[in-house]
Amino acid sequence: MKKRILIVDDEEIFLVQLKAALEAMGMDTSMAKGGLEALERLREMDFAVVLADMKMPGMDGLELLEKIKKLYPHIYVVMISGHGEVSQVVEAMKLGAYDFLQKPFDLELLEISLRKIFQTQDLIEENISLRKEVEGRYDFHQIVGKNHRMREVYELISLAAETDTTTLVTGETGTGKELVAKAIHYHSSRKRKPLITVNCAAIPEALLQSELFGHERGSFTGAHTRRLGRFELAHQGTLFLDEIGDVPFSIQGKLLRFLQEKEIRRLGGNKIIRLDVRIISATNQNLAELAKEKKFREDLYYRINVLSIHLPPLRERSDDIPLLAEYFLVKYRAVLDRKVHEICPEALNSLFQYHWPGNVRELENVVEKAVLLEKGDTIRRFEILTPSGGNSLSGETSLPLPGDADLPFKQMKAEIIALWEREYLRKVLSRNRGNITRAAKEAELNYKTFYEKFVKYGFSREEFTS
Ligand SMILES: Nc1ncnc2c1ncn2[C@@H]1O[C@H](COP(=O)(O)OP(=O)(O)OP(=O)(O)O)[C@@H](O)[C@H]1O
Ligand SMILES: [Mg+2]
Repeated sequence: MKKRILIVDDEEIFLVQLKAALEAMGMDTSMAKGGLEALERLREMDFAVVLADMKMPGMDGLELLEKIKKLYPHIYVVMISGHGEVSQVVEAMKLGAYDFLQKPFDLELLEISLRKIFQTQDLIEENISLRKEVEGRYDFHQIVGKNHRMREVYELISLAAETDTTTLVTGETGTGKELVAKAIHYHSSRKRKPLITVNCAAIPEALLQSELFGHERGSFTGAHTRRLGRFELAHQGTLFLDEIGDVPFSIQGKLLRFLQEKEIRRLGGNKIIRLDVRIISATNQNLAELAKEKKFREDLYYRINVLSIHLPPLRERSDDIPLLAEYFLVKYRAVLDRKVHEICPEALNSLFQYHWPGNVRELENVVEKAVLLEKGDTIRRFEILTPSGGNSLSGETSLPLPGDADLPFKQMKAEIIALWEREYLRKVLSRNRGNITRAAKEAELNYKTFYEKFVKYGFSREEFTS
């Protein structure tokens, strides 16, 4: 919807001129000759911005401002004055004026100010509609996200839940693999039976076997009683093998046996126990790669990977960041008993500037901390900790720009490339102890090109030979 502006002044000529100028900028504008008329217009129509003169006979600008802020707090008011008295400016700001312009003012400045207001209003509206969306549940069993790749994930979860297919969930740390495993179980026909989880990375190799398959009394020193393993506990339900990439080779064969035969044997026992267990595994490692390196049995890899669900890293679905941030805000507001109920557009924007190596878990922690620290009703900034320990809003993956990205594009590009080339050459040269022939070969550049760059960047062989 087009945003409407109301201009209020007692001078007709000023009104007419300004209206013409604003309409030339493509803005929808109405006029009011004084405070009372302005309030009338405001009653009739919705406006995004009011531009009001300070000095007017009858109701003056400040009085009008006060009334607008009381009746229509969402409207942004920009005050205009021909006098620029400091005390009045301060007063106007205190009453909630958004900006202040002095007559005669630059139309370009006015346009910039208005466009900025519209942008902020759009962000706020987006924010509100996002909250509505959260309430409308864009989720799947506590998994929040409406990015198209997450919708694909939901489809796969439904598919996995309809069958008993052995399923592998992959994705970087904190992307929600465990949530997916739970969603599958609780949407499957096994939902009233147990979901048993084993974190294969957390249990020492010596214990893992008995943990999974159980043991008979006396099967090893310390085995005083018979113990049921997690496989047996998961009978008729689901066994979630988390961090499956960490299962030692010795146990991988036993898992394979279960997947092929649907039976296990307790440690130290001869009895074969037939079980009905559905297996879901998860890993943040590249199992195909591990299989190639013979660190993971290839046959097991194929058996656990009948259906695979991959969770994209958060940086590849950043359009879900506002939705997730809202979701965690609502969650922690309740948990921590805070009254904070919104995130200002600037703070929300800052979340897009980061590359989220810890994915959704890291975002959750950042929002939780902000909610905890916020005494008011709005989160104004997020503290994002980079691995180096400093506070940063820019991601590790973003290149540091020389200066403040204040050069024309082509020039900036050339500078970045030169910086990068110099660094690249320095590394290759130092690896080859200043030997240009060898360095050029490693870089797959011909000698002449390499030598020209060597001279261009002012290197000397001695630098690399010491
Ligand atoms: N899409 C999502 N919506 C809501 N919460 C999420 C989502 N993804 C992850 N989370 C939350 O982030 C945290 C980490 O999720 P989870 O434990 O499932 O990740 P993971 O992939 O298993 O991580 P790891 O590899 O480190 O074990 C949890 O608190 C979870 O509730
Ligand atoms: Mg996990």
